[in-house]
Amino acid sequence: MHFKEYSSLLIVQQDTIVTVTLNRPVALNALSSQVIDELDHVLDIVGAAIAGGAWPCRGMIITGAGEKAFAAGADIREMTGMSPDQAWAYSTRMQALTLKLESLPVPVIAAVNGFALGGGCELAMACDFIYAATRAAFGQPEVSLGLVPGFGGSVRMQQRMGLARARELLYTGQRITADEAHRLGLVNALFDSQEALLTGARRTLLMIAGQSPTAVAAVKSTMRRVEGHSTSRGLEIEAESFREAFRTADMQEGTRAFLAKEKPAFPGC
Ligand code: CAA
Repeated sequence: MHFKEYSSLLIVQQDTIVTVTLNRPVALNALSSQVIDELDHVLDIVGAAIAGGAWPCRGMIITGAGEKAFAAGADIREMTGMSPDQAWAYSTRMQALTLKLESLPVPVIAAVNGFALGGGCELAMACDFIYAATRAAFGQPEVSLGLVPGFGGSVRMQQRMGLARARELLYTGQRITADEAHRLGLVNALFDSQEALLTGARRTLLMIAGQSPTAVAAVKSTMRRVEGHSTSRGLEIEAESFREAFRTADMQEGTRAFLAKEKPAFPGC
């Protein structure tokens, strides 16, 4: 995959894992319109490359540059000059990006190395799951600015930790430690250092990359499609996905290899 030079992102491709680093450390990696546009561009390139059928990317890590922040939120400086309608456009633009992230057919891990506040926490929650360094901190401090979450926090925080806990976090605007976020289920795993964090995220993505890519993509999309539905409708959606899996060469190969006691060589279709 060929990425252009970005002014606010660093992209590293290693094996089939793409690491995207938010790179505006002077503003604690705040999510300016430019960062959002550049992230959007990266997702388009990755999405198009996978749609091409070659699976050049099997997983993505999103992290922040520097020791201090994953992302300290929406860009407050940029927001002060916005009209209400421009604020709406800014919000819907970033929301569209979070939906694009969720529709990517490969897993995305947010490797949260420092502050993940406001829009930063919302970006992390749009990833499949969150790993964090022990020094990381999370929160939705919008109420302290006279604001409400604009990049999906009102929706995804309650999905992650339940309504009552999400309400408390959003009403108080309080910041929580990585340890607390782990206890509340926002964070899957904690790591002592930035290096261990990235190694841990990479290890998990490589483990997933050893599975059938069509099956992983189908599980991701099924789990997303069942959200918000009744149990019975969710089960119908799951059965439809199960049927589709039987049309794939990966399913033929996976079951054949199991019975032959061999390692599967998934064709990815
Ligand atoms: N937007 C723009 N610039 C930001 C920023 C943000 N969200 N967060 C930090 N910065 C800038 C600061 O203005 C400062 O720049 P200068 O050196 O030019 O003054 C620089 O980054 C370093 O920040 P601090 O000096 O404040 O660093 P600190 O260590 O003292 O504090 C912090 C760190 C606690 C994260 C603090 O910077 C902070 O509270 N930031 C704002 C967090 C926040 O409120 N985020 C929510 C934004 S609203 C939102 O995201 C809405 C939404 O849902 C879309």
